[in-house]
Amino acid sequence: MRVGIVGCGDISRRYATSIAAAQGLELVAATDLAAGRAAALTAEFGGTPHASLDTLLGDDTVDVVVNLTAPQAHAGVSAAALEAGKHVYSEKPLALRHDEARELVELAARRGVRLGCAPTTMLGEAQQTAWKLVREGAVGTVRAVYTEANWGRIESWHPTPQALYAVGPLVDVGVYPITILTGMFGPARRVLAYGTTLEPDRVTLSDAPFRLEAPDFVVAVLELAGGVVVRLTATFYVPESKQRGLELHGDRGSLFLATWDAFDSRLELLSARGGAYAPVPLVREPYGGIEWSRGLVDLAEAIVEGRPHRASAEHAAHVVEILCGADESMRSGGPVAIGSSFEQPAPLPWAR
Ligand SMILES: NC(=O)c1ccc[n+]([C@@H]2O[C@H](COP(=O)([O-])OP(=O)(O)OC[C@H]3O[C@@H](n4cnc5c(N)ncnc54)[C@H](O)[C@@H]3O)[C@@H](O)[C@H]2O)c1
Repeated sequence: MRVGIVGCGDISRRYATSIAAAQGLELVAATDLAAGRAAALTAEFGGTPHASLDTLLGDDTVDVVVNLTAPQAHAGVSAAALEAGKHVYSEKPLALRHDEARELVELAARRGVRLGCAPTTMLGEAQQTAWKLVREGAVGTVRAVYTEANWGRIESWHPTPQALYAVGPLVDVGVYPITILTGMFGPARRVLAYGTTLEPDRVTLSDAPFRLEAPDFVVAVLELAGGVVVRLTATFYVPESKQRGLELHGDRGSLFLATWDAFDSRLELLSARGGAYAPVPLVREPYGGIEWSRGLVDLAEAIVEGRPHRASAEHAAHVVEILCGADESMRSGGPVAIGSSFEQPAPLPWAR
């Protein structure tokens, strides 16, 4: 599948590297609002730089648009690409509003093209192994989950962090464990959230001061329809601490995934009979870190095989409803009901 990247910022080199290494994917085009960025990316990884989104969408060699723009531009860019008849794979979140996300799902169906969305860290070896153990009953019925997205001060490494601060840590990084957990256990039915700003005045790497618009510290409780209760923390203040993982607690034991993002995360099992957490081998040799193209490869294979792709837009739209519900809850102080649903993705064949 021939790929056109829209948005050639911080994450784009990691995607281009991963696309170059993936069988069946080829970078053929790129564009960015900022002059020179598409040319720099294509000079390094191949493909044609386009001066605008319109000319990239008019390029017949592009089969799929990979939308790596800032979150505020996701819905508009994806809608234009779907209208142009391209498949789309978007970075998270699918959109900033639930109605926009739903419109994208419907637009893709009307145009007969695929729409997929990150995060796809659920497709990692560690995450698939944890899910397999849960399905096999290794910890019995899971009833409580703790998960942490302590992401630190992102201005310490990201050259232009303002767009990510504008959406806040729940939307930027809390979205990873929310997607994994709803993928494993099914849709959420209620969310209750608390947010505050711990450090409102920040400074970029180039010494430009800026003020936060969204909370930098969020705690959310999700009730999943199947009965699991999730307590999640997402911050752009607490550094990568000892807690950046997932704890799944069941009637017969607990599973600990040290990080929910790395495909080679440490995985440990605690028996309800006591003792200490013990390491669990992964179902196959893991990829080191995050393989950014894995969800895109699955989407390409799903088209050929005529099956649903795993990183579905319906799932991503449900996650957007949860994020918006959490935002409403932070303002109102009360719980917010979640109404949408989605088909859970199938486990990968090597982790069935
Ligand atoms: N940076 C990371 O480590 C990281 C990791 C995972 C996911 N992501 C996600 O990737 C996306 C991009 O993040 P980033 O860190 O690369 O941001 P960035 O700000 O560095 O890059 C975004 C790029 O998109 C361009 N852009 C914005 N609107 C556009 C439009 N309408 N048309 C064309 N180009 C447009 C900007 O000029 C910029 O070059 C975000 O959704 C983010 O959540 C980033």
